Amino acid sequence: MAESCLIVAKVLEGIKKEVHPGIKTAELDRYVESFIVSRGARPAFKGYRGYPASVCTSINEQVVHGIPSSIQLNEGDIVSLDIGVYYRGFYGDAALTLPVGKVSHQAERLLAATEMALYLGIEKAVPGNRLFDISAAIQRCTEEEGFSVVRNFVGHGIGRELHEEPQIPNFGKPGQGPEIREGMTLAIEPMVNAGGWEVVILDDGWTAVTKDRSLSAHFEHTIAITGDGNVILTKQ
Ligand code: MF3
Ligand code: CO
Repeated sequence: MAESCLIVAKVLEGIKKEVHPGIKTAELDRYVESFIVSRGARPAFKGYRGYPASVCTSINEQVVHGIPSSIQLNEGDIVSLDIGVYYRGFYGDAALTLPVGKVSHQAERLLAATEMALYLGIEKAVPGNRLFDISAAIQRCTEEEGFSVVRNFVGHGIGRELHEEPQIPNFGKPGQGPEIREGMTLAIEPMVNAGGWEVVILDDGWTAVTKDRSLSAHFEHTIAITGDGNVILTKQ
């Protein structure tokens, strides 16, 4: 898993310099696919339940599962990039949201809060804690910043399958849920809206957008629970 996750980390690092005003999200998809394939790996999302691309590109009010297209990124947009890799029997999954050029103060705050929520959640992902300790930490951080967590999508176990048990909600009560144990591998992925938490799915059957069309951000890491803590596998 460390190997598949390292490929995810490298492609997310590499894509940062590709994201600029004027680039089409389909060009980002080509970059991601050729990067992954050149390392002897397979893009995990392509073909998954019929998803047509190697990366999810979700712009502004799009929450997750945006499909790459001939649409160009504009100065001031935010774009979430979610990537999965399958390599030698194991999956890795990570996401981040990037500013396109100069973005609004609110967008900057949203990105910072969502990334912080992810890291506060990861801090709780240690043996002996309960699963919803992660959820509660994410929710608390998000709501303290005046934002809301999406309810309809969750983090997940990951390993030989892209999505395994348990589901990891981004909201919940501390001290509840299954015990976190050494050897678990989890994808933790807060999706945070600037406005309300409700989302709707567009007619393409994939793209989730905020119901109130407020901005949304998404950060995700795959981690492994160790004897005394965890390691973030999708980090170089
Ligand atoms: N990180 C998302 C997830 O774990 C991305 C899945 S996109 C899909 O569900 F195309 F594979 F569905
Ligand atoms: Co995921």
